[in-house]
Amino acid sequence: MAEAGSKSLTVREAALADAACIAALAGQLSYPSTPEDVVQRLRGLPQDGTHAVFVAEDGAGRVVGWAHVFVYRPLEHDAVAEIAGLVVDENCRGAGAGKLLMVAVEHWALGKGLPAVVLRSNVIRDAAHQFYESLGYTRIKTQHAFRKIL
Ligand SMILES: CC(C)(COP(=O)(O)OP(=O)(O)OC[C@H]1O[C@@H](n2cnc3c(N)ncnc32)[C@H](O)[C@@H]1OP(=O)(O)O)[C@@H](O)C(=O)NCCC(=O)NCCS
Repeated sequence: MAEAGSKSLTVREAALADAACIAALAGQLSYPSTPEDVVQRLRGLPQDGTHAVFVAEDGAGRVVGWAHVFVYRPLEHDAVAEIAGLVVDENCRGAGAGKLLMVAVEHWALGKGLPAVVLRSNVIRDAAHQFYESLGYTRIKTQHAFRKIL
């Protein structure tokens, strides 16, 4: 689907067969997951065009990264595309896979007529922040995240 930078890297939409690779990379994102977990999560995504999962492949067809984007449609402002997750294999970083995935995400968002791509990133992820800024993203605020286990 998308091609740029590193000639051997490509991006395509994810399939259920990518679940094991997506799970391994989710672990690198500090969210340990099994392939079965990921199959269930992929199957659970709405099939109405409001979510997309992209994977980056190297020249050998090996999945080296993934991105999940969805339409965030709150009441207080117009819909935007939000990135739910993005990760590139720690052995393949700096080769352009992350940028290719972001190009795919932005292309998807533009195709839906969405005016912006937003994302939230843990304050400890300095390298990711530099990555996003290099792609033209600006910091708009700092938040606390809350959770109540039910
Ligand atoms: C953030 C991440 C997805 C970037 O993917 P990547 O494939 O390494 O990034 P790319 O090689 O496509 O880099 C694109 C540009 O971003 C910038 N960049 C990437 N990593 C950077 C870093 N560590 N420091 C500074 N700039 C960086 C570079 O300017 C690069 O441009 P270049 O082509 O001129 O070199 C990857 O590092 C990652 O998976 N990190 C761990 C998980 C994570 O933090 N995910 C984001 C959660 S919000």
